[in-house]
Amino acid sequence: MNLFETMEQSTPTLPDRYKTMTAEELEQRVKNVKDSMGTRLFLPGHHYQKDEVIQFADARGDSLKLAQLSANQHEAEAIVFCGVHFMAETADILTREDQHVYLPDMRAGCSMADMANITQTEKAWEKLMTKFDDTILPLTYVNSTAAIKAFVGKHGGATVTSSNATGMIEWAFTQKERILFLPDQHLGRNTAYDLGIPLEQMAVWDPILEELIHKVPLEEVKVILWKGHCSVHENFTVSNIHQVREDYPDMKIIVHPECSREVVELSDQAGSTNYIINAIKNAPAGSAWAIGTEMNLVNRIIQEHPEQHIISLNPMMCPCLTMNRIDLPHLAWSLESLADGKPQNLIKVDTEIAIDAKMALDRMLERA
Ligand code: 13P
Ligand code: SF4
Repeated sequence: MNLFETMEQSTPTLPDRYKTMTAEELEQRVKNVKDSMGTRLFLPGHHYQKDEVIQFADARGDSLKLAQLSANQHEAEAIVFCGVHFMAETADILTREDQHVYLPDMRAGCSMADMANITQTEKAWEKLMTKFDDTILPLTYVNSTAAIKAFVGKHGGATVTSSNATGMIEWAFTQKERILFLPDQHLGRNTAYDLGIPLEQMAVWDPILEELIHKVPLEEVKVILWKGHCSVHENFTVSNIHQVREDYPDMKIIVHPECSREVVELSDQAGSTNYIINAIKNAPAGSAWAIGTEMNLVNRIIQEHPEQHIISLNPMMCPCLTMNRIDLPHLAWSLESLADGKPQNLIKVDTEIAIDAKMALDRMLERA
C-alpha cells in the first residue's frame, strides 16, 4: 500500500455527494458558511492554491506572510488552512490552544518536507557532531515537519522562509561557525552563495547514504546542505533557459530559489514567491517575463498582468500536486463539517513538539 492509500484509509475522505455538486452549488455552500461564521472563521490561502479556492481566502500570502498572519490571528476560533500540511502545523503552533486549525484534505502534504524525517535528522546530527563538535547551528526551511522545527528549536536554531533566508543565515553565522540547512539544498545553496560563501565550502548531507559529501577539508566547510529538494521547482532546467533565450532574446527570466544553482545562475533574477509577484507588479507595461515557479501562481500572474508578456519558464510545467489537493469540493466539505459541529481533519501538533518548534519559529518571526 502506498502513502496516499494508507492516508486514505486512516483519514476521512470526501463524501460522495460533494463530488457531484456543480461549482455554483459548492461556491454557494462555501459562501453560506463564511457568512454565518464571520470573524469566527479565518481562511488563509497560499499563492500556489487553485483559483477556485483562493477566491475565498481571507488573506493570500507566501509562507512567511501566512505564518505572520497566523501568529497575529487572535479573533478566529477556527482556521481552515488552504495550503499544505506543514503550513497548517505552523499555524497550529503559532495560535492559542482554544483556536483550531483544519486542513481540507489530509493528503495535501509536501514532498520536500517528507525528505527529512526526525530519525534521519537525529542520526545526521550525531554523526556531524563527531566531525565538527559543537560548531553547527541548524536552520530549517519552514517547509518541514513540526518535529524537524522542534529539533532545530531545541538546538538553538531557527526556521527560515524563502523571503528571509538571507537575513536568517547571516544571523546564524553570528551564533556558530557553520550551519546545517534543512531540508532544501537549493534554497540553502543559493542563499549562502549570494552571501559570498564559495560553493566548495558547502557540503551535502545525504540522509539515505548517511554520509557527508565535501570537497574541502572539514574545517573549511561552512554550510551543510540537507539533500532535499522541491519536486516542482526541480523541473526548471538549464535547457528551458536556453530555449527561452533563443525564442525570446529580450525576455527576463525570474525564478524561485528552490530551483537548482545552475538555473538560478543563468536567470536574470531569483527570489521568493513574494519577490516574484512584486517584480512583475513593478515592471513597466510591455515587459516580457519567463517565470520559474509553481503553475497556479504563474497562471494567476498572467491573468492579473495582461499588459505584460508572461510565460512559464517550462512550458510543460504542472502545478504542485499536493497544493492542488485542496479544491472546491474539499473546501466546501471542510467548512460545512465545521459549521455542523463535526469538524474534519484537525491539525494538532503534540504539545512538547509545539513548544520547541515555536522557539524556532519565534526566532525567525522576531527578525522577519
Ligand atoms: P514561499 O511561499 O516561501 O515562497 O515557498 C514556496 C513554496 O514552495 C511553498 O510550498
Ligand atoms: Fe512542497 Fe514544492 Fe509543493 Fe511547495 S511547491 S508544497 S515545496 S512540493
